[in-house]
Formats: sequence, structure tokens, C-alpha cells
Amino acid sequence: METASSVAEVLVHNRNRVCRIEINRPEKKNALTRQMYAAMAGAINGADADPEIRAILLHGSKDCFCAGNDLKEFQLAGENPELRPAGSNPFMEAISLAEKPMVAAVTGPAIGIGTTCLFHFDLIYAGQSATFSMPFVRLGLSPEAGSSFLLPRLVGHQRAAEILLLSKTLSSQQALDLGIINAVLPDNKVIDHAWDISCKLAQQPPASVRLTKALLKKQAMATLSDTMADELQHFARRLESGECKEALSAFFERREPDFSSFE
Ligand code: COA
Repeated sequence: METASSVAEVLVHNRNRVCRIEINRPEKKNALTRQMYAAMAGAINGADADPEIRAILLHGSKDCFCAGNDLKEFQLAGENPELRPAGSNPFMEAISLAEKPMVAAVTGPAIGIGTTCLFHFDLIYAGQSATFSMPFVRLGLSPEAGSSFLLPRLVGHQRAAEILLLSKTLSSQQALDLGIINAVLPDNKVIDHAWDISCKLAQQPPASVRLTKALLKKQAMATLSDTMADELQHFARRLESGECKEALSAFFERREPDFSSFE
């Protein structure tokens, strides 16, 4: 059954007690706008509150999971403080607080929040051609969604530094070796596999599943919410920086950025 989503770029289907959320803006590589964040947050919060739903699955298009935040919106927010989001991102809040298990299927690139959101998921399956990157530094920005805490916790400081400071892109095999994802599958099988796993989760005893997820996350939760609040403040200031403005102009002008004059 297809259920309501407030925007066409986010499709939501409830079936077999699984809420399946599809990012559907392939012409912009599934870059996320504020409206899309709100729709995804609404779907996740709704699924978490709905006793009929027992698992949440997120996936993108067949050749792109998500190219991160819409860079045009970042550019506008950097120029006009009134266009800057007030408070935290509702999608990040929803994924960090969801009590039900969340599964992700990654096909093609997962960039910026396309990767950082995954650190809040419980089970992640990626296609052979999937890639993972968090190019915040290359964009003159700073980490978000709790990634400055969750990434080093997963992979250690030095590997996290390499990935974040050098905006290193990981292949799906590298992400598997680092423990960031659960398995690599053929590209054309990954969404079906993640669906099967979501249905399997939905058949488990639901209270036991929710309790186990809560216990797995308990130690991290306090630090995580402090980190997310701290990151948000830095991120908002970085959007106004000359470094970020140069990086965003360079992206849309399809040229290399020039950071040589910055201190
Ligand atoms: N925000 C806004 N628009 C984006 C976007 C983003 N994050 N990512 C891609 N697009 C747009 C492009 O501007 C282009 O639009 P156009 O057709 O109107 O010119 C369209 O999506 C296709 O992108 P393109 O770069 O031509 O495709 P590609 O296959 O060569 O590369 C990516 C795909 C995802 C690797 C590349 O677009 C990219 O690096 N995007 C930016 C990722 C990023 O830095 N995200 C922010 C992280 S914080």
C-alpha cells in the first residue's frame, strides 16, 4: 500500500509491516531538500509510532543512493541567514531517535548526509558499485549528523581522519572491511535483499527487537545528542565561510575550487 508523503521526491509504501521509504529525485542524484527532509522525517516518525509497522527500509534510485544535501540550498543559506534552517534537521532527529530497526540499501554514491545518515541505521547493504564519502572539508564545511563521534567510534581516529580530512571515497568493499556496512551484494540484488531482511525483522518479536536496539545504542546516546548539537552550530557558521562559498561556486561552475588565499 502506498501511503501519503508530502513531496513527490519521497515515496513511502507500507507492506508486510515494513515502511519502505524511497528517495526519488534521480535527476539531481537524490540530493535532499528541506522539503524532502521533512517528508522523510514524517515517514520515519509515523512508522515508529504505528503499531502495524515493525521495520523501516530506506533506499534510493538504482544508480544513486543520495548525493547529500542540495548544494543550491546550502549556497542560498550561506548568502541569506533567513534561509538557514532553524534548529536541527528533522530527518537527523528522526533517524537518531527511531526505536524500530532501520535497514538501508545503498546503490551508487552515498555522499555527505547520504553516508552520515547510515551511521544511525542498524543494517546496511550495499551494491558492488556503491561508494561512500563525506566531503565536508572539501566543501569548506564540517561533519554533521553525529559523524564526528560515530565515525571514529566505528573505524578509529586515524581512519576517520583520512576519510574526513581528505574527503576520501570508500568503495563498498572498503566500507565492509571497515565495519561501516553489513554486506556487499550485486547491484541489481541489493534492494530486494534489504527488503527480505526488513520483512525478516518484521517477523521477530517486536518488543524484544526494540529493547535490543535501545540497549545497543544506550551508551552512545548522550554523547551523540551533544555532538549533534555542537556540530550543528559549527556547520551553520561554515555555510557562511568564504571557503564554503568558493567550494559551492566551483561545484556549480564545474571547476576545481581554489583555496590558496584562505588562512
Ligand atoms: N545538490 C544539488 N544538485 C546536485 C547535487 C547536490 N548535492 N548533486 C548533484 N546535483 C545535480 C547537478 O548539479 C546536476 O544538475 P544539472 O543536470 O542541472 O546540471 C545533476 O545533479 C547531475 O549531477 P552531475 O554532477 O552532472 O552527475 P555526475 O554523475 O557527473 O556526478 C555526483 C554525480 C553525485 C558524483 C556529483 O553530482 C556530485 O559530486 N555531487 C555533489 C555531492 C556533494 O558534494 N554533496 C554534498 C555533500 S555535503
